[in-house]
Amino acid sequence: MVNKFTTAHVRCATTPLRARCVLPGDKSVSIRRALVSLLDAQTVTLENYGTGADCLAALSCIDALGKHVRRDGNKVTISGEAAKTSATLDCRNSGTTARLLMGLLAGRPGSWVLTGDSSLSARPMLRVVEPLRLMGAKIELSREGTLPARIEGADLTGHEHDLSLSSAQVKSAILLAGLHARGVTRVREPLNSRDHTERLLGLRQSEDRFWSVMREMQADHTPELSGAIPGDLSSAAFWGVAALLVPDSEAVIEGVLLNPLRAGWIEVLRRAGAAIEAAVEDQSGGESVGNIVIRNGKLKPLSISADEVPTLIDEIPALSVLAATISGESVFHQVGELRVKESDRLSAIVEQITCLGAKAAVKRDDLVIHGGALRGAELDAHGDHRIAIASVIAGLAAQGTTTVSDAACADISYPSFYNELLTHLPDSLSFS
Ligand code: S3P
Repeated sequence: MVNKFTTAHVRCATTPLRARCVLPGDKSVSIRRALVSLLDAQTVTLENYGTGADCLAALSCIDALGKHVRRDGNKVTISGEAAKTSATLDCRNSGTTARLLMGLLAGRPGSWVLTGDSSLSARPMLRVVEPLRLMGAKIELSREGTLPARIEGADLTGHEHDLSLSSAQVKSAILLAGLHARGVTRVREPLNSRDHTERLLGLRQSEDRFWSVMREMQADHTPELSGAIPGDLSSAAFWGVAALLVPDSEAVIEGVLLNPLRAGWIEVLRRAGAAIEAAVEDQSGGESVGNIVIRNGKLKPLSISADEVPTLIDEIPALSVLAATISGESVFHQVGELRVKESDRLSAIVEQITCLGAKAAVKRDDLVIHGGALRGAELDAHGDHRIAIASVIAGLAAQGTTTVSDAACADISYPSFYNELLTHLPDSLSFS
């Protein structure tokens, strides 16, 4: 734990936020680059590696598989062979680590057990294991379809998967398993989810929207793993929303990941009237990198269509807080997937917004928020990093004081967030 307190106390911000930030490496990209290093023995040097506990969980798993991992601040060097043929791998809170490892290990000789903390051990894993079994994978889960997972490396055969769910973790697990399978593995999802694995492996989408991968392509393409990891685009959303919550504020985020399949929150905010500039400046490991500038201004209610959900799934806690301050009805369509994140985020969001004095309800799988003036409240993070940070920034716009218990779980993705916020708004934040 980096953050040693339990409760954050937030007072309504009385001065504008003027933030200029370079963020720790993107969580999805950091974990993928670390895990894909298992494929061979090349030495990989990662700069600006993500600082969150999830990114460190991925490193400890590859270390347990036999890789040498050296960490010096945000610089990580990975070398050597993943020579171990049996290990118990603790994925802690990281769904991306657990699900991608299932794909990577399913076709390697050996036997492994994947475990996780109580939150990860409650999350559905059959969505990954069922498609992998169609390729010949031997993976056993608990009777509830959850961790622990027992994997016996098996001979895999390529398969064409037409998924009913849009999930980057499921798609990535299949593609990574495909690298150890005989023949071609193809995968299509109803809506495109984040494509970091495809970019890293140099894959192309066909006209019928399938991604294909085969063992032989490993020889043709060496993933570009070394280099600087762009700043985390999901963490950037918290700064963007904070700037929109506090009058006269501005947030400038430099060197951040600008992947279009992660940038849905920027489009939604622009449609609502926000002044946002986002410009690509560079490329790194197949990803675009650039700067984002967000200025405070009056907003219309937010409207999120079902098609956009995969492109902003992790930003819904932050966007919900913002919607709670905008008068009128904001609707987030088809967000049922939030029920199986690090917490039941749908019920956590409804609880949080109701406590703050605005209205929120779930109608089938749609989240409907009626915004208004917020008042300070006692909130709980439910052990969920994104609910913790969203609750703290909500407090910046709520009259009086907001307390957020269990706020230290922000460590999972963004341990330095509170300290950075404190440097910009010292009168608004304290801890106990
Ligand atoms: C992730 C994919 C998303 C996202 C998660 C990270 C990834 O999950 O919510 O935080 O890195 O692939 P799903 O694939 O379950 O939608």
